[in-house]
Amino acid sequence: MTTSAPQELALPVLDAELASRLGARMQRVETLLAGHVQGRAPFVTEAASHLLRAGGKRLRPLLVLLAAETGEEPDSDDVLTAACVVELTHLASLYHDDVMDEADLRRGADAAHARWGNHVAILTGDFLFSKSSELTAVLGADAVGIQARTFTRLVEGQILETVAPGPDEDPVAHHLEVLAGKTGSLIATSAEYGTIFGGASPEVRAALTAYGEIVGVAFQLSDDILDIASDAAESGKTPGTDLREGVPTLPVLLARTSTEPGDARLRELLDQDLDDDVLHAEALGLLRAHPAMEEARRYVVARADEAKQLLVALPEGPVREALETFADIVATRSA
Ligand code: FPP
Ligand code: MG
Repeated sequence: MTTSAPQELALPVLDAELASRLGARMQRVETLLAGHVQGRAPFVTEAASHLLRAGGKRLRPLLVLLAAETGEEPDSDDVLTAACVVELTHLASLYHDDVMDEADLRRGADAAHARWGNHVAILTGDFLFSKSSELTAVLGADAVGIQARTFTRLVEGQILETVAPGPDEDPVAHHLEVLAGKTGSLIATSAEYGTIFGGASPEVRAALTAYGEIVGVAFQLSDDILDIASDAAESGKTPGTDLREGVPTLPVLLARTSTEPGDARLRELLDQDLDDDVLHAEALGLLRAHPAMEEARRYVVARADEAKQLLVALPEGPVREALETFADIVATRSA
């Protein structure tokens, strides 16, 4: 399935002038992205444009543009290039992630591996990451360094997710470290690139990089809650994928610590392989109704509040307001 590129901002921006500028800039990013996923061979273009055309919220490029608004040169072309870099890196990671998670649905469309097999999906992810790297080179050595460190963190986070915490390690702390690597890193880089190429001060750069890291963790936490709570029509993904794959998430980690006798069945299920459809459905139902879901939601809102505190480094005004809203919608999103 393919739908047209998103026309609306994934963020309600109250200030009409800022909203219209961001909307116009996002349209330019969209056009540039469509160009960057072109390969020499039509099949490469088809595979590489598949997830881009399937939709997506474009939160990372939007954050680049928004962070650039804190600087002296929000309209610089480098800001648009940086916005493409982070979205292409994100897209690349999704091709790989769906292979690892054996997820068949992404953005309401077939996952690439479900359509073309694992080899094509992995190589298309590599192709998109190479495209992203080519663009980063245009931005200069500092940007390349940041991108390289981000990639290291992304991959390391993804590897650590497959490794159980050590005997002396707190499972929730281990989990949060995984999320900071696999998701916080690229969202932090989105904010940082925006401040660098928009010409913001070093203080604002540091504040927004830290903000992006926390918002990124909150984003992944709410993504994991949605994986349990929402259906495929809302999320465009198959619900309960993390549970089926045995990928730990905050609600599962919290439910596991419960000593309530009434939770015995859920704990038992969470300790076993949930590939069986009946057991999987039972675990998903029990988890959806468990107070751990609400506890996890409260934790996400607290992280978003923590991120918003960092925005005191910015002058009051529409840009700061939009960044506050950005943190809020990430924490409370329903898709
Ligand atoms: C989604 O996690 C996945 C990530 C945020 C990062 C994955 C990173 C890699 C696969 C490393 C390779 C990276 C590149 C750039 C080639 P999820 O499965 O929890 O979220 P989902 O619900 O969207 O699938
Ligand atoms: Mg996944």
